[in-house]
Parts: sequence; C-alpha cells; structure tokens
Amino acid sequence: MAIDKKFVDQLVIVTSKAALASSYLVGKKDKISADKAAVDSMRSNLNNFDIQGQIVIGEGELDEAPMLYIGEKLGTNKGPEIDIAVDPLEGTNFAANNLPGALSVIAIAEKNNLFKAPETYMEKISTKVNEKNVVDLDYTIKKNISNLSDYLNKNPENLTACILDRPRHKAIIQELKKLKVNLKLITDGDISGALLVTEDKYNVDIFLGIGGGPEGVLAATALDAFSCNFQGRFLFKTEEDKRRAKKMGINDLTKKYELNEIVRGDSIFCATGVTSGDLVEGIEIQDNDFVSETLVTHKSSGLKKVIKLKQNVQ
Ligand code: FBP
Repeated sequence: MAIDKKFVDQLVIVTSKAALASSYLVGKKDKISADKAAVDSMRSNLNNFDIQGQIVIGEGELDEAPMLYIGEKLGTNKGPEIDIAVDPLEGTNFAANNLPGALSVIAIAEKNNLFKAPETYMEKISTKVNEKNVVDLDYTIKKNISNLSDYLNKNPENLTACILDRPRHKAIIQELKKLKVNLKLITDGDISGALLVTEDKYNVDIFLGIGGGPEGVLAATALDAFSCNFQGRFLFKTEEDKRRAKKMGINDLTKKYELNEIVRGDSIFCATGVTSGDLVEGIEIQDNDFVSETLVTHKSSGLKKVIKLKQNVQ
C-alpha cells in the first residue's frame, strides 16, 4: 500500500523545524546541544502526526538515549502503522564547527518495511547502476572499478569515487589512486556521500567504505526512490555489539544486505540542510521567517526533488 502523500508535506515541516532548531547552535562548538535541539524539535512535531509510529532507527536504545530511542512509539496512535528512521542532526561536527553539509534527516515506511539497524558500522557501496553483478560489495576494488568503467563507458580516470576520509580506508584509497580514479574525500556525512551517485550533476560514480549502519539505512531509502543500487554489511566488533544485534533479530552477522532487504514497499525520505552542502542549502533566517531546503523522495508517487519553504520562526 502507498503512504499518503500528505505525509510528505508534514515531514518536510518536521525536518525543516529540526534543522532550524539546530541552526541556532551552528558554530557553537557544541555538537551535543546542536543534536539535542534537533531531537527535541523532531520528537514533539512527530507526536502530532496521525500515525501509529515506531522508531526503528533513532538516537540509540532506551538505556542510552531518552529521546527518539529505538522502539519508542510516536504519533497520535490514529492512522497507519509506520516505521520511522531518524537522524535529527547528521554531521554533528559540521554543525558544531559551522562547516558545510549538516542535515536533518528522516525516513518512513510502512510497519516492518525498514530495517532495524543496530548502532554499529556498516560496509557500504552505492552506484547509480542498478544492475546485478556490475558493482558488488564482495568484489575487489579493481573489479568494481573495471566493471563500472566498462558499463559506463568511461575510463577509470574519468570516474569519481566518494569515500569518508578515515585511516580505516587507507588501503581502499590507495587502490583507487593506483587505478587513477578521482577521489571525493568527505570528512563526515556519509548519507549525503551515498546520495551523490543519484544525479549526474554531482559527478560521483560510486560511493563506498565503512560508515554508520543507521546512516546506511537512511541513505538506502532515498537511493531506492532514485532506482540506484546499494548494498550493506554490518560490522560487529565487540561481543556486546553482537549480543545487541542478535537481540534485534540479526542472526547472520556477516550477511550482505541488498537494498530491497533494507527498505521495502513505499517510503518517504526528507533531508533538510542545516548548513549548506552538496545536496541542499542550509537554513537562512530572514527577520521572523526562515527559509529551508529539503531533498524529498516519495517512492510511490515518483517524487524526487528539493523543496524550498519559507515559514515563520514562531
Ligand atoms: P554524526 O552526525 O553522528 O556525528 O555522524 C557523522 C558521520 O560522519 C556519519 O555520516 C558517518 O556514518 C559516521 O559519522 C562515520 O563514523 P566515524 O566518524 O566513526 O568514522
């Protein structure tokens, strides 16, 4: 069943207000307060929704996060049963340091259609090539680049790969360099990084590397609406991580997940800019009003666009 389009308009308001709340703390060197402002705003606005909502991806588990914890029920308890994934402030360092790319992000799907991702790392890969056996998490970097280069009919030196600039990616970055692939190294914000494959204007052919698992599920929701490809594999380091994963119903800890195992059916994704970045502009305050830009996707209606809104700051 499709999710009613009215929720698109409502969700854009939720993420834009959360982004506004965080924007007051941009450049204050306080990522915890900037995050909390977005969390509080998002939570109170989601509670006005006529849904029977449940957080499947949030700020952690009840014992570690009092707000928007995994399992928390939200909404008026009237209307459809909905899975909710949130990252109220994606790129907390960006907001704290007044750098480009901080976003306020939400995704919804019908109940049991969004993956309940644990708070752990995920190995990810995304491309706009939505065909099997071209790019795959199990292939070597060399094979993926060679296949992609053949498929897109572009030399490797004309391909661009986006990856988080982290010491754990040293070998991948070296291999990409050896293959003469152009790099787009990002310091944070791998939801945005993964979404750069969605449109030619970003000039990114492949996103890869290890980042947050929850961020992987959120990005996958939008990538699904753009008919792009995504695969992910959770990485569990400690015994505690493994125990939590099993508690969440993950029995095969090494499984590679395809996009359609992460998100199914209809979905809505919204990402509003807190600070300006590759995808959207940040919050701009004009007297008593604020202007926001939100990247929105709604799978069943085919909606994929940036919505610019002017609202009263109240
Ligand atoms: P926060 O907004 O929670 O700070 O996350 C930012 C981020 O860059 C994510 O986009 C990414 O998935 C994750 O951190 C990577 O984690 P790490 O900084 O540990 O490499």
